Amino acid sequence: MFVCSCFGVTEEQVREHAAAGACTPRQIASSCRAGTDCGGCVRRIQALLGREAGPRRAAVAAVAAVAEAAPDGRARTAAEALPRAGRAAA
Ligand code: FES
Repeated sequence: MFVCSCFGVTEEQVREHAAAGACTPRQIASSCRAGTDCGGCVRRIQALLGREAGPRRAAVAAVAAVAEAAPDGRARTAAEALPRAGRAAA
């Protein structure tokens, strides 16, 4: 299914760019020009990026979860944080 009709970019192509590390509509635009003409597809691209996280987004979520303090104020261990990151990336 086409996401960007101006440039003929499909959902599959957006997913491929996300899997290669693009995690913002601007980065998708740099890869395939989607969103750079009428802009009507940008919200759809944002939705795809938010729902289908690429490896870079998952890594960022994991780091953020590790950095987040536990309720008692101590730093979270990786074992505590990573299951939460897995949910955030799913
Ligand atoms: S539909 Fe993507 S720029 Fe127009």
